[in-house]
Amino acid sequence: MLKEIYEQPEVLQTCLSHYLSEDHPLSSSSAYSFIPSNLSQIHILGSGTSRHAGLVAQYWLEQVAGIPTRVRSASEFLSAPLPLVANTLTIAITQSGETSDTLAAARQQKNYSRLADTSTCQLIGITNQSESSLARTVDHILPILAGNEIGVAATKTFTTQLAVLACLTVHLAHCFKTISQERSHQLITELQYLPAKIASVLEQQQDIIQEIAQKLALAKHCIVLGQGVNRAIALEGALKLKETTYIHAEGYAAGEFLHGPVALLEPNIPVIAIVMPDQSYEQVINTVRKVKFHNVPVIGITATTIPSAALQILDHQITLPTTDELLSPFLTIVPLQLLAYYTAVQRGLDVDRPRNITKTLVVPES
Ligand code: F6R
Repeated sequence: MLKEIYEQPEVLQTCLSHYLSEDHPLSSSSAYSFIPSNLSQIHILGSGTSRHAGLVAQYWLEQVAGIPTRVRSASEFLSAPLPLVANTLTIAITQSGETSDTLAAARQQKNYSRLADTSTCQLIGITNQSESSLARTVDHILPILAGNEIGVAATKTFTTQLAVLACLTVHLAHCFKTISQERSHQLITELQYLPAKIASVLEQQQDIIQEIAQKLALAKHCIVLGQGVNRAIALEGALKLKETTYIHAEGYAAGEFLHGPVALLEPNIPVIAIVMPDQSYEQVINTVRKVKFHNVPVIGITATTIPSAALQILDHQITLPTTDELLSPFLTIVPLQLLAYYTAVQRGLDVDRPRNITKTLVVPES
């Protein structure tokens, strides 16, 4: 897992270079020829970490490209399919390309689209396995090019899924003119800086994360808060902690946390808060103040531009380089992956073979 966490700068670079050619970043429109020309909505299907990548993308696609987007857990899709209308693009996300729930959901969507004669609908897959069952099911594949991922906890496949989804969002926003040429170039330039920024997080924040992990290892429960584009990162961070450390961790949107879950707070339940300099900053810092009022230790994942007065209320800080506020999930997830890894090691657990789970959840057909 640690090796794969450290491979992220390199694989992200490979993936971005595939989707953004140097001389004309938006040129490879043939790579996106599957997009219905009158695109009406996007459906995203996936499980676990892949679903979380879909939730980050939902924020991007709606807020940047203005496309109505729904994300459904693949395991719920058979009993609760999403209504299909003409010109729907469905994206099935699965790193393995073999997860039974995601395959079943993708196949059902394909059948619906045939029955409804919605020939304008398209089904595509985002996967690390171009030869997989998913690849044989969908109309088109967008590879994530992460190289084999062996660790049960998905790490580098998550960041590369995000990279494909970010490139797709910029392309759609550009096509539908919801952002200016200048803004799309700004986003593309910032995407290209991300591998180096992730490398600097891995290099500079390792010590503080190991120090925090020693304390976190003693916890039975833990809460992870994020908001806006980082809400899904709070969910993904909590999933990484659950899988590798067996600590009961839950991710919440910082604002929503105050509507009930706040009752959970106790001084021995640490809170990890993603405090980024973005539109959600006030809401997150407001929740953090309320959390501190209950004498709860708060670990902040912050950026260099956060005002120092706000940082003083945090018990620990993991400070990230600045990036475009839309793209911060590429950076905020990295300390959460490392924290999960080092906390599990501190608890004497086999990080690469967590109990009760397998790398790919395949249910044999009955
Ligand atoms: C999380 C994890 C699982 C998978 C999920 C989907 O670390 O490994 O939650 O993300 O089972 O797997 P894929 O992406 O292969 O469909």
